[in-house]
This record gives sequence, structure tokens and C-alpha cells, in this order.
Amino acid sequence: MSEPTRLAGETDTLALLGGRPVRERMLPYGRQHVDESDIRAVVETLRGDWLTNGPAVARFEEAFAAQVGARFAVAVSSGTAALHAAAHVAGLGPGDEVILSPLTFLATANCILYCGATPVFADIDPATLNLNPGQVEKKLSPRTKAILPVHYAGLPCAMGPLQAIAQARGLRIIEDAAHALGAEWNGRRIGSLGDLTAFSFHPVKHITTGEGGMVTTDDPALAEKLRRFRNHGIERQVRDRQGTWRQDMVAFGFNYRLSDIHSALGLSQLGRLEAGLRRREIIAARYGAAFAAMPEVLPAPTRSGTRHAWHIYPLRLDTDRLREDREAVFRALRAENVGATVHYLPVHLHPFYRERFGTGRGLCPAAEEAGDRLLTLPLFPQMTDADIADVIAAMAKVIRWARG
Ligand SMILES: Cc1ncc(COP(=O)(O)O)c(C=O)c1O
Repeated sequence: MSEPTRLAGETDTLALLGGRPVRERMLPYGRQHVDESDIRAVVETLRGDWLTNGPAVARFEEAFAAQVGARFAVAVSSGTAALHAAAHVAGLGPGDEVILSPLTFLATANCILYCGATPVFADIDPATLNLNPGQVEKKLSPRTKAILPVHYAGLPCAMGPLQAIAQARGLRIIEDAAHALGAEWNGRRIGSLGDLTAFSFHPVKHITTGEGGMVTTDDPALAEKLRRFRNHGIERQVRDRQGTWRQDMVAFGFNYRLSDIHSALGLSQLGRLEAGLRRREIIAARYGAAFAAMPEVLPAPTRSGTRHAWHIYPLRLDTDRLREDREAVFRALRAENVGATVHYLPVHLHPFYRERFGTGRGLCPAAEEAGDRLLTLPLFPQMTDADIADVIAAMAKVIRWARG
């Protein structure tokens, strides 16, 4: 972000109470990085012959598959479309149950509804904020068809135990890796482990196409089904048709295509993925070191044997040690121009889910407790060292006030 960000003068009084904020301008929790090479790639595509159904899509898919170590990657119009496509080709339908963590974005659960199947919420492990395999076991039923783990914040789930449960029962694993491009579990990239893995290219994610998503798989039959599903269930892509006007719809499908314009941007962005991941690691490490000295703050979880992709930095407040609650801390940080937010209100507590499925507090206590205490701090590769220092200074200032 632009410098200088720190203001001269007295900053000890909380901005919420009329003092001077730590920063002059709001620092968002995440933001895209689009450079001149991205712009050139998009403009070149706009000048070319193919705006959609063209070669940029295939190039992006091939590069993405290579990046995550999967055999196939199928580009779609959003991360939500990626989850829907994955859930559909996994064969989910009415009567099927899918076990997932409620500490996620709504799209993870909604994709199950799109297929007419039923989401079954299992609790998280508070040590990782990810789906707890022991809780998954408790939610298994004869109707369970799949497990849908989310690599929350970019920290890989306990894939070994989840795979063991899935293999023993013949269940599909559909991974929501919207937070986890570049993450690794046991030396393997997320995207190369499960049956189907869904990614998002929303602007706050590791790479962006504006809107966009990808599904990876090693299974050629699933890859073919995914390609059909994103294109109305039609058998072949336009550019593959040689001299025939026929478009045979052979399966159910949608228009979930990603255009060549989006794909050109995605391919260009992919070249900077590793640099972005490294910067994210540095920012997270600085936060971790600073919050180790604040007993009221539980730093974001990490885990040995994994590479964290650090999509977001979710800390938890020890509200038992604070006079002020999470909402007050959130408002105080915003007043300091630090764009804190919360990921997430657990899905089972949303009004729609409560009404439709009769869910509510008590169903997943660990996720609910986390949901009450979480705060996401700004984390994106273009943050300067001064931005990082501002966030830490604002946290120290706000926590000093909140502890009373
Ligand atoms: C965990 C998770 N799943 C799914 C999605 C949906 O992705 P998109 O916004 O690209 O549809 C998101 C994006 O916000 C997400 O964070």
C-alpha cells in the first residue's frame, strides 16, 4: 500500500474514542496484485481471435495442473462453480449426505444443496480450525457419500485420517481448496491428493482472474465429466468440432465456462504464485512473533509437515481475559484503519440453514467457540513492512485498551 502510512503525533488514544488512528488509510484484509505483464496478457487476448473456448483456457489449465501436481485441471467461472461441478461429478444427489466443517464460506455447503444432497456438519479441531476426523466418524451414516474438507486459511487438513475413513467406506473426498493454492501436505501440493479439488480465483485469493475457479483431478473420466458439466453437458468444445455443426447434449450441465480473457490473466498470475506465497509466509511469521507476546491473542494455527498457503491470518481472542468483546475489538481495529474481518459465522448458524435443517448452537461447539473469537487481519503479498508494523501496532493499542 502507499507510504507513508503512519501518522505523526499522539496515537495512544484509541481512534474509536477520538484519538488519532494508527494509519491514515484503510488497509484491507486482502487484495489482488495485477501488474503490467497481467495487463499485457489480457490485452493480447482481446486483440486475438478467441475470447472464449480458445487456447488460453487450455494453456491455463495445463500450467495449473502442473503447478499443483494433478493430471487434469478444468477451469470454470468461479470457485463456487468449481465446487458445484466437483459435487455433481462425484455423483451427489437427493438422499446423499456429505460431511463438512461449518467453519467455512457458505459456498462449501451450498454446493451440496445445488445437487439436492444434505450437508452434515461435523466439528473442527480447535488446534487447527480444520475438520476433526474423529468428529467425522461420529457423523457417518449409511447415506454418507462424501467428505468435503476445507483447508481453512490455507492450512492443510489432516488428509491421512480423512483418506483412511473415505477408503474404508468407499466415500469420495471433495476438497475445498479456495484458501489453499500452493499449500502442501506431506510434501504434496493440495490439488494432487483427493478425488476432486476445487480452487477459487476471487481477487483476495492467491491468484485472481476477477472471478474464476478450477477443479483438479487425476481421473480422466471425472475430468471429461467436468468439461461437459461446465458447457451445458455438451460432448465437445467448439474448437474441437471439425466440420460438424452438431452439439450433442449428453449430460446435465451449466454454462460455467471461464473465458480466454480470464484465463490469460490467470496464467500470467500463476507465474507469481511462489513469490506471493513466500511473502505471505513472512507476514504470518511476523504476526506470529508479535502475538506470542500478547497473552490475550492466540496466533493462527500452523502444523509441522505441512506448507501453509496463508490465504488469511485468523487469530483468536481470549475473550475471557478481555473486558471488551470481539465486536468491540473489531470496531476499534477498523477505527485505526486496519481492515479486520471475521472468517466465518459458522454455516449452521446462518438463518437459512437454521430454518431448513433445524441447526443451531450446540451442534458444533468448537466451531462455534472459534466463530465467536476469530478475527482476520490483513494479509496479502503487496503489504509493505510498514503496513505489517501498523497492524501489529494497532493490535497492541487495541488489546491494551480491551484488557482494561
Ligand atoms: C472456502 C471457500 N469456498 C468457496 C469459495 C467460493 O469461491 P468464489 O468466490 O470464487 O465463488 C470461497 C470464496 O470466497 C471460499 O473462501
